[in-house]
Amino acid sequence: MKFFPHYQTSVLTILGTAATAATAQNIVDLSTAKWTVSNPVYNISVPGSVPSQVHLDLYREGIIPDPYFGLGDFELRWVTYENWTYEAPLHGLDSSSEASTWLLFNGLDTFTSIEVCGQHVASTNNQFRQYYFEISSILSTCSSDPTLSINFGSAVNISAAIASEPGQETWPNDGVEGLFEFPNRQFIRKEQSDFGWDWGPAFAPAGIWQPAYVIQLADSEIYVRNTLLDIYREGQLNNLPPDQSASWVLNASLDVIGNIPSSAELKIEILDINNSTVADGSLGNITTSGSTITGSVAIDGEACQLWWPKGLGPQNLYYFKISVVDGSKTLASVTKRSGFRTIVLNMTPISASQLAQGIAPGNNWHFEINGHEFYAKGSNFIPPDAFWPRVTQERMEQLFQSVVDGNQNMLRVWASGAYTPDFIYDIADEMGVLLWSEFEFGDALYPVGQDFLDNVREEADYNVRRVNHHPSLALWAGGNELENLELPEAEAADPNNTRWVNEYEKLFLDVLVPAVFGNTKSISYIPSSTTNGYLELNFSLPVPIIERYNNETPGSIYGDTDHYDYDSTVAFNLSSYPVGRFANEFGFHSMPSLQTWQQAVSPEDLHFNSSVIQLRNHHYPAGGPFTDNFANSSKGMGEMTIAAEMYYPTPYHSDSIANFSAWCHTTQIFQADFYRSQITYYRRGSGLPERQLGSLYWQLEDIWQAPTWAGIEYDGRWKVLHYIAKDIYQPVIIASYWNYTTGDLTAYVTSDLWTPASGSATFAWYGYDGSLLAPPSTVDFTVGALNTTQVFAGSTSTLPFDLRHAVMKMNITAAGALPNTDETRVFKHEYYFHDLLLGEASLVDPGLTLSYSEESGNFTVEATSGVAAWVWLDIPAGTLGNFEENGFWLVPSDGPREIGFTLKSDESGGKWVKGVTIGSLWNNTLP
Ligand SMILES: *[C@@H]1O[C@H](CO)[C@@H](O)[C@H](O)[C@H]1NC(C)=O
Ligand SMILES: *[C@@H]1O[C@H](CO)[C@@H](O)[C@H](O)[C@H]1NC(C)=O
Ligand SMILES: *[C@@H]1O[C@H](CO)[C@@H](O)[C@H](O)[C@H]1NC(C)=O
Ligand SMILES: *[C@@H]1O[C@H](CO)[C@@H](O)[C@H](O)[C@H]1NC(C)=O
Ligand SMILES: *[C@@H]1O[C@H](CO)[C@@H](O)[C@H](O)[C@H]1NC(C)=O
Ligand SMILES: *[C@@H]1O[C@H](CO)[C@@H](O)[C@H](O)[C@H]1NC(C)=O
Repeated sequence: MKFFPHYQTSVLTILGTAATAATAQNIVDLSTAKWTVSNPVYNISVPGSVPSQVHLDLYREGIIPDPYFGLGDFELRWVTYENWTYEAPLHGLDSSSEASTWLLFNGLDTFTSIEVCGQHVASTNNQFRQYYFEISSILSTCSSDPTLSINFGSAVNISAAIASEPGQETWPNDGVEGLFEFPNRQFIRKEQSDFGWDWGPAFAPAGIWQPAYVIQLADSEIYVRNTLLDIYREGQLNNLPPDQSASWVLNASLDVIGNIPSSAELKIEILDINNSTVADGSLGNITTSGSTITGSVAIDGEACQLWWPKGLGPQNLYYFKISVVDGSKTLASVTKRSGFRTIVLNMTPISASQLAQGIAPGNNWHFEINGHEFYAKGSNFIPPDAFWPRVTQERMEQLFQSVVDGNQNMLRVWASGAYTPDFIYDIADEMGVLLWSEFEFGDALYPVGQDFLDNVREEADYNVRRVNHHPSLALWAGGNELENLELPEAEAADPNNTRWVNEYEKLFLDVLVPAVFGNTKSISYIPSSTTNGYLELNFSLPVPIIERYNNETPGSIYGDTDHYDYDSTVAFNLSSYPVGRFANEFGFHSMPSLQTWQQAVSPEDLHFNSSVIQLRNHHYPAGGPFTDNFANSSKGMGEMTIAAEMYYPTPYHSDSIANFSAWCHTTQIFQADFYRSQITYYRRGSGLPERQLGSLYWQLEDIWQAPTWAGIEYDGRWKVLHYIAKDIYQPVIIASYWNYTTGDLTAYVTSDLWTPASGSATFAWYGYDGSLLAPPSTVDFTVGALNTTQVFAGSTSTLPFDLRHAVMKMNITAAGALPNTDETRVFKHEYYFHDLLLGEASLVDPGLTLSYSEESGNFTVEATSGVAAWVWLDIPAGTLGNFEENGFWLVPSDGPREIGFTLKSDESGGKWVKGVTIGSLWNNTLP
């Protein structure tokens, strides 16, 4: 790879090993300081840590119990209502007079008053900003050893005080704020789910939650505190598909502490993953402000290996070493790992050639990677813990392994947590998981006072620049459920008042569009996760996006969809699902497994009506900071049990723990069944007029142990959902589509490969005793690239047998090639059609057998005497891992089926194998 010469002010220079930074900077990592955390009201003073939060330090020191146990969410509110002070002596400083000394915080949560040597340095009010303060003059007046002291205010109290300030913004309808436990979250810049959410607790923690440093610089030294790297195709504009034959442009911009000399330049060295230099040279078009230096260079595209999401090609990555040089002196250098790809959210109008393909008019709403449309398969990522400092690299690698093992290529990083740390983007870069990322605004309307907007601008600018180099970054969205929920609610409560839309645009267009478009050309932006896109995109306007909202033409299809319906009687009515271009969230809650409940509640609480279990269901909070504010939690519990009872044999075991476990499991089966029905419906839409190109279900994983929409429990255990999603997100699938009103039954093969696939589909009706009810039929098919094809049409109203006593097994074998490969692969998939009401089906004992082979590490299962519905292999508590498949059906004629297992962690010393159990819906009512 070599650089194109035409942008360069200087020709290629070889950066040898001689160009090391000649720096005398003194950097003190404050995680090594001796911290105490204290509160005078409760007379507490214990060792603290950085990065950390008060609850974590108090728990470690034995002051409070495990916050996640029982009703800790309510019982520990006293911690949340207090101020806490973190204090540490500053050791290791260089007292030489020419040094300037700075405090640098990558994250303070949230309201602080910072002092050094008892003198006020600054106050902060934004969890998401990086803050840096010069303390040189304060240090020079310190009479004793300098001490840093940070007083954290109670976010719950401070937000209430801000909300009641005279002249503070109010909205026409209380419902405009999605209220869970503590109110007023929309007035402050702190993780919104810290105040409670329907899937999570409300601890509203405080602390130095990200790394912090003291930086000491000599006169001419600089320290790079943030780096922007933007790699795009020449001529590329945000939100528009670029010319894939154009050369790459690399734009680098470094934010520093200290002053950059006006004569400074930027050099770059690009290394491959084995650290061999593939290119080096100088950036051109250098601009220098006091603390930011920017430059760009064009790169010969031919030699750059593209980065692709998992399943679509390899994840090629490179190291980019950028150095600030002044004459012969290297002032600073940073290395970022990045890759070459374009990713665009294409919302352009449907073209004439698309109309000719049978696509309905309106606009597109799909992603394109390196110029290719693809089907986005995945889920929504929420904060993996209420306390970010305990989210480790190991936990996240394990979670992302489950994402890719589950055939997912995209996550939507939900808008009301925290901006994702770099190490998680790094994992996503390596594993090939696209991260649709969002600014932290959700399910509320927000104030638009100048201070608030200025604060947001800083936060947005910092985070957009910080993460832009990650090839996994797929999109920026302003916030969650704004255009489809909160804005219409305000407008409905106060019709004909343009104030609400104007204020919405002030924040989500006027502030956030420049934060994205002003920093990056490679990333698209939408104001709200669910949106009909733009009416006009015009880069000669001050704000290039003019929103469409509900300016729709009948018969046209525009945006993405968000679908929840807690009336489980219509869960499998296909007419109840939205028709759109992309499904960005949809779901239903379920209970976690018994093994997970045992981590968080006492044995006597392991039953459905226990108040601890009920109060950990946050689906319908009444709102307000009282321990009884989940007065409606039984409603959320009821929704799960009503669905389980309606569709499946009612669980019953005389042993109360086994009974509880079976109930928990049955709620998971309904959840998985419902999601599968929607995912197959959305995927089939890739070949229907809606040209539907994505489904991201709600939600990937849990923040704690509770009834939620997650497919993966808090410790990483897969619910039935994650297995079913893995199955149905395979590249080539078959599924049935039943209109139970008319009896019309069809089956379609859907493929998200980029070339056609051909094969055959077999259909066989079985009685529950495993007997064939009719000779199987087989049809050959070819399914087009990113398309669907109908392979079966019939009616259940003309069957010669009662549907309650029959199941249809359909399976396919197809030959096709994965994107970016020529190699032909065989894809197999199977799917069972059955009456919806399995409680009324004539289930018999399937005679399931289970064995384990030490040699292969595989399990073998077989249904020896009947059809086994929802076969479930269960691993005991203390062991974590996943089967190759689970939650499947078996007929006796399948014979023995071998199932692989990946062990992730084990506390049993290998004894877990003997604890693996097998069951199916038949066992729901057996002891
Ligand atoms: C609590 O913390 C806030 C924010 O740092 C500060 O403004 C306030 O003075 C503190 N109050 C007390 C009693 O320490
Ligand atoms: C490349 O260099 C980085 C930083 O010096 C080092 O961490 C990494 O292990 C090296 N990789 C290889 C493959 O040598
Ligand atoms: C460098 O500046 C020139 C003149 O403003 C501009 O035409 C060119 O696109 C810039 N190059 C890059 C790589 O930004
Ligand atoms: C899907 O396949 C059908 C049948 O071959 C074809 O008419 C249609 O144009 C295809 N759709 C797209 C978007 O390629
Ligand atoms: C809002 O405007 C529409 C159209 O002008 C009108 O029909 C309606 O009555 C108005 N509603 C209110 C509450 O003023
Ligand atoms: C099912 O059939 C009914 C009655 O004809 C019809 O109204 C409905 O739209 C059909 N549903 C689907 C998903 O085709």
